[in-house]
Amino acid sequence: MTTHSLLLLPGDGIGPEVMAEVERVVAFFDKTGKDKFKTETALVGGCCFDKHGVAVTDETVAKAAKADAVIFGAVGGPKWDKVPYEHRPEAGLLRLRKDLDLFANLRPALCYPALAEASSLKRELVEGLDILILRELTGGTYFGLPKEMVTLENGEKRAVDTTVYTTHEIERIARVAFDLARKRRGLVHSAEKRNVMITGVLWNQVVTATHAKDGKGVKLEHILADACAMQLVRNPKQFDVIVCDNLFGDMLSDEAAMLTGSIGMLPSASLGAPDPKTGKRKALYEPVHGSAPDIAGKGLANPIAAIASYGMALRYSCDMAKEADLIDTAIAATLARGFRTGDLMQPNMRQVGTVEMGSAILEELARAAG
Ligand code: NAI
Ligand code: MG
Repeated sequence: MTTHSLLLLPGDGIGPEVMAEVERVVAFFDKTGKDKFKTETALVGGCCFDKHGVAVTDETVAKAAKADAVIFGAVGGPKWDKVPYEHRPEAGLLRLRKDLDLFANLRPALCYPALAEASSLKRELVEGLDILILRELTGGTYFGLPKEMVTLENGEKRAVDTTVYTTHEIERIARVAFDLARKRRGLVHSAEKRNVMITGVLWNQVVTATHAKDGKGVKLEHILADACAMQLVRNPKQFDVIVCDNLFGDMLSDEAAMLTGSIGMLPSASLGAPDPKTGKRKALYEPVHGSAPDIAGKGLANPIAAIASYGMALRYSCDMAKEADLIDTAIAATLARGFRTGDLMQPNMRQVGTVEMGSAILEELARAAG
């Protein structure tokens, strides 16, 4: 029997509250599923700074690199607003992403039928929506050099960001897109701005070439990133996987997120390159939301984004797609029964806290597993 090692990093604010519900779901699959789970918990973010003076320790980074999957809660809060910049809570997450070279960021946008009313779009446009935005996470405009602000002779200032991509960086993210699409509906849209950006021209060429080589069974469409933004609110269900660079991915993933209602619902995954020996990718899974200091410690947080993040770990790191589907089904059923945390509350629904929502999902899991 396979045993998967999970490193749990609950972090700050509501992080530990939602992670406690994840642990109950892990225990459920450990008991009933085909595989076993071994979990270890460590500090990250503000709580780690308080204890060790850094946002993440070398020891924890080493454990993260060895684990089959890292499950991350959230970091930050007003308590740490004044800590030195290099030790701020977010530095812990950024270091993990960088040291593990997590270049592929997956943000699914899934609209549960019970929540279709919460979207800003009409029900028929979003009901049953299931798309995946794949964002390049370690290159492009946010990291390219030079990145500077200088004062010119006439006293004016001049600021520069540089958008840079190499063949290798585009190829590896394109390959992830085709791999993912093959397990979904087999369609990839590659979004860039080849009409005005030379990095867009290269992006387009490399994605096309990678598709010819490694895109068997997948249909590839090219779309301009601005047109893609428009189509996402006009007719989002036409998409399956959308792959794009770091900057466009930041925008498009936030736009897609809003199609589905609350931030408390959104999971994400960040993947690295496959290990040449084992084929396994380094991976970190986390809810999109932050530490929500306004509701922390009150038992009000929605644990669905965190539980769905564990679901993504099952799918992408543990080869347990059936169990991942089970989690999605249980969440949908729980919402259909009317359970709502405060962030999702609608008239005539049943308002519950973090633990009750976790319990309701566990009940549905048990039911669905028979
Ligand atoms: P946030 O996501 O923490 O909260 C935004 C709003 O959504 C708040 O009203 C919050 O109560 C609500 N919310 C968020 N998650 C929820 C959940 N699971 N259930 C119910 N309601 C939820 O973003 P904000 O307020 O901008 O940042 C708060 C702190 O979190 C800051 O210190 C920020 O730096 C940090 N942060 C950390 C992230 C991470 O760890 N990856 C990501 C974003 C922010
Ligand atoms: Mg963003």
